[in-house]
Amino acid sequence: MSLNVELLEQSFNRIKPNAPEFAASFYENLFADYPQAKPLFANANMAEQKKKIIASLVLVIENLRKPDALAGALKGMGARHVQYGTLPEHYPLVGASILKTFESYLGADWTPEVKQAWVDAYEAIASLMLEGADYPEEALKLSN
Ligand code: HEM
Repeated sequence: MSLNVELLEQSFNRIKPNAPEFAASFYENLFADYPQAKPLFANANMAEQKKKIIASLVLVIENLRKPDALAGALKGMGARHVQYGTLPEHYPLVGASILKTFESYLGADWTPEVKQAWVDAYEAIASLMLEGADYPEEALKLSN
């Protein structure tokens, strides 16, 4: 993974003090822009889920300098997501919502360089998660 570790750390540290609000507005953005993602969370405890998404972002940021450990954790997380009903096509929706939330929290600090750093990071995260996920052929059909 060749990522802009310093920009990712700096920008994440800026949202960390507002992490609970950040998580809440991420799910608001996700469900408003992509209502098709909502049923997947029908049985989820959203208060817990908000804490978990932040914890997983912290895990990513804290392990950017240990890519092997990070890759293992993300593959495991991707494998668990198969059971949550998550399909490969859902990943870009979550990515767009994370980026949108960062933009609204960082304001003028959401520079083209910071945006590119997060686009690259999300692509790397999603591809490792999908690598760990063993999707049945059915799930990968375009007709789904
Ligand atoms: C960077 C991408 C993502 C990250 C970091 C992430 C993070 C997490 C974490 C940490 C959990 C808690 C359980 C566990 O660790 O296995 C979780 C659960 C879940 N995630 Fe994700 N996730 C991502 C992408 C997605 C996508 C694309 C979807 C589909 C819309 C999704 C839907 C869910 C659902 C439905 C649950 C289970 C909720 C429940 O019923 O308790 N996630 N996610």
